[in-house]
Amino acid sequence: MRIYSRILGTGSYLPEKRLTNADLAAELAQQGVETSDDWIVERTGIRARHFAADTQGSSDLATEAARKALTAAGIAADELDLIIVATSTPDMVFPSVATMVQHKLGTAGCPAFDVQAVCSGFIYALTIADSMIQSGSAKRALVIGSEVFSRILDFKDRTTCVLFGDGAGAVILEASDQPGILATDLHADGKYKDILCVPGHVNKGGILGDPVLKMDGQAVFKLAVGVLEETARASLAKANLTDADIDWLIPHQANIRIMQSTAKKLKMTADKVVVTVDQHGNTSAASIPLALDTAVRDGRIQRGQTLMLEGVGGGFTWGSVLLRY
Ligand code: UT7
Repeated sequence: MRIYSRILGTGSYLPEKRLTNADLAAELAQQGVETSDDWIVERTGIRARHFAADTQGSSDLATEAARKALTAAGIAADELDLIIVATSTPDMVFPSVATMVQHKLGTAGCPAFDVQAVCSGFIYALTIADSMIQSGSAKRALVIGSEVFSRILDFKDRTTCVLFGDGAGAVILEASDQPGILATDLHADGKYKDILCVPGHVNKGGILGDPVLKMDGQAVFKLAVGVLEETARASLAKANLTDADIDWLIPHQANIRIMQSTAKKLKMTADKVVVTVDQHGNTSAASIPLALDTAVRDGRIQRGQTLMLEGVGGGFTWGSVLLRY
């Protein structure tokens, strides 16, 4: 009998500080950087984002989301036998955010590690957890996407600093004979590393290179639109399903225009796409689990429905997870 990974519960966390486009535009204007609510809404669909407090790291956001997911799942942290955190903005170079979350949740012993695939990170982490559950090496996994992208933004670069936000989302997966994750699909192509990257790194006690996010937005946009359709179709084919079987599309939340274009290619109407980019901005690896938790908690997503989760981001990386909720 096939072992499936089933979502037992979801949770998410957004830092208290919320900035509307107008708030951010006013802050940027003080530094001589010009932008507007109109431009941001028209080009991206973003209206607001949350920024973490100086005292909060990815592990703090992740732990808050994890606690909510554990409560929703009705299990205790010491019942977990796997913790994976997807992040590109860890608290430290090492140890991993996952080991910090494990300790903050008051548990120890189970494997805990981070996955770094930028905005596709949660899709990668979910796929790894699913593989470990299917192989029998884990029964209950905590999978988190957590980011503090506000730490790596260049607030003098209006082409990037208006796009991103901070947050965390989490799911608890459990081994089950009922579906479950139906299919997964992962890809990467390292030749595109320069179109979305943070080139700076720690070197001999200093920072070598520019430690802020650089993006060729148009190049990313073009690639994203193509690969998101391809990976969705690949997961559908693996599960012997078609576009028409998808109840909810939960794409990486980077730009409403990319999301609408993907939905159109999958012949889905806009009301079947979970959209949180307007309120969260692009939270990288956190964006998909944040959107998932939002739609679970507001009652849109119901048990038994078929969900298509898909992500794309730096690397270049992309992938999808098709699941029965
Ligand atoms: O999470 C990983 C995945 N990331 C993405 O999916 C991001 C993909 N890319 C995008 O979402 C879009 O390319 C952006 C939102 C980043 C940019 O939108 P665009 O429609 O491609 O705009 P653009 O780069 O062509 O810029 C158009 C104009 C430029 O002015 P000129 O040269 O036409 O005079 C920019 O300088 O808009 C200007 N501009 C701004 N104006 C006001 C760029 N940023 C801003 C801004 N406010 N914040």
